[in-house]
Amino acid sequence: MSFYQIWIRSFCDGNGDGIGDLYGVYDKLEYIKSLGVDGIWFSPIYPSPNADYGYDISDYKDIHPDYGTLDQFRKVLDRAHELGLKVLLDLVINHTSDEHKWFIESCKGKDNPYSDYYIWRDPRFKGEEKLPPNNWYSQFEGLAWEYNEQRGQYYLHVFAKKQPDLNMDNPKVREEVKSIMRFWLDMGVDGFREDVINFISKVPELPNGWSFVPAINGLPFYKDGPNLHKYLEEFREVAKEYGAVQIGEAPFTSVKTALTYISGKNRVLDMLIEFDTMFADCFMTEYVHHGFRLRKLKRAFRRWQYGLQGKAWFALYLENHDHPRVVSRYGSLSHWRASGSMLAACYILQRGTPFLYQGQELGMTNIALNSIDKYIDVAAKNAYNTFFLKDSVERRLERIHVSTRDSARTPVQWTDGPNAGFTTGKPWFYVNPNYTSVNAEREDRDPLSILNFYRRCLALRKSSETLLWGTYREYFQGSRKVFMYERKYKSERILVICSFNKESMSYRLPKGYDPSKGQLLLDNYIAEKDIEAAARGNASAGEKGGAEETHPHKSSTAGVMRRLKPYEVQVWKF
Ligand code: GLC
Ligand code: CA
Repeated sequence: MSFYQIWIRSFCDGNGDGIGDLYGVYDKLEYIKSLGVDGIWFSPIYPSPNADYGYDISDYKDIHPDYGTLDQFRKVLDRAHELGLKVLLDLVINHTSDEHKWFIESCKGKDNPYSDYYIWRDPRFKGEEKLPPNNWYSQFEGLAWEYNEQRGQYYLHVFAKKQPDLNMDNPKVREEVKSIMRFWLDMGVDGFREDVINFISKVPELPNGWSFVPAINGLPFYKDGPNLHKYLEEFREVAKEYGAVQIGEAPFTSVKTALTYISGKNRVLDMLIEFDTMFADCFMTEYVHHGFRLRKLKRAFRRWQYGLQGKAWFALYLENHDHPRVVSRYGSLSHWRASGSMLAACYILQRGTPFLYQGQELGMTNIALNSIDKYIDVAAKNAYNTFFLKDSVERRLERIHVSTRDSARTPVQWTDGPNAGFTTGKPWFYVNPNYTSVNAEREDRDPLSILNFYRRCLALRKSSETLLWGTYREYFQGSRKVFMYERKYKSERILVICSFNKESMSYRLPKGYDPSKGQLLLDNYIAEKDIEAAARGNASAGEKGGAEETHPHKSSTAGVMRRLKPYEVQVWKF
């Protein structure tokens, strides 16, 4: 299978209030189906004060009024199922909103039934001075502790202040989680993407941290905590009753640790969303940017592909709502179409289940806003006010421009009409001005568009046992220009050759490949209808398909060296 991720607020507005909603989703279900995916993962659609745009939930068993009602959700679910699309929801149980009923009650005092739903600690005192219980920083906003006057204690928040961490050690909280799962599974939902799932069990003593990166100094005490397995086993039991899939998001996880969750018969999760592939242009977080390094990306792919091979199944992705747009990061805006399409084949044809994020299939790019006040993400604002304070305002804004999650949250570009066809009203957030050329309507008509290339990749993957089940092997690991991998199944081998080079270049086939053989299956410079002719060696076919110079695939007797255009991808079957 493969999945399409919806971040609903910016997906499609159906009622003209400027905010994406379930009406909009309903209208676009056929479009989603047309991509060739098998399901949808919804980022949170529950009531939320939006301190973290849905990841701060104030009611787990309802729909945010901005997006619709439970009835409308049922309609979307049923229609998706009719079309053969599975539906996954986001299960965010590390924390709630501070406006959730449980938290409001919990603040009232220690004898309240919700008292132990959160992680409360007394202040430390230094003389008269009141200090937080330990030295942890949050990942989003200052210290990880906030004092609550009413209760006279501090609560822990690993993310924003308005996201208090739940106390998963309390069996009542785990019962609530199971009840939330059942609520949606009973309705017919097919599974969950589980938010920061490796953070839900904390070391009870909550000792001081020592990391030199403040935002993660508490990490060793809340990541992969002592009871994580036990809790995940409990949740697994519920999922099993329904045959539901569980995909865990797990920041900062190694392959070795991942395997303890996703391998073997008693695995507690089906797949895991790792972060290594997100750091090919930065150090640990996008806010510490260093420019794209292909070898770093290849290392990340290699680590996970080889590490999981034969043991576990992988979740493949290059974009989601938490990261800037991948064409802007790992591709090239001057070779927008070629790099945007090459990046599709570069990950979709690897071993695993591909996820694509709304707008990724159109090659949407990062947005540059001219003031920090125009950005909306709590993490971006915090980074702006924390890092590189000695730089000029312009330089600091440039940093936000390359790093912010907001770039993934601009309205999806459907047409070249007003507001990119996202809404008939006033869009809640800035539309990227490049919508006049980057939009679904236009790309749908263009056989060489990024959109149509995503469709071709997904269809090819679906039609090939080798691409679905074959083993993975990488060649020319040291190359700074080419990423080349093989999928092998029974006697068939498929070679995926991706250029990350702005210039045309030549390449060699790996040892053991007969250059006089090979059938071209896919190429981002050759349209679908011309691929067979090109595969037979008819060079002019490529030209008709829109390539700007005679296509380099000579007849199958061509010499050992082959050619790649800028950001070209070729997929060959041997
Ligand atoms: C996950 C979500 C992200 C959110 C964070 C806290 O990383 O994907 O959007 O901000 O968890 O819930
Ligand atoms: Ca709306």
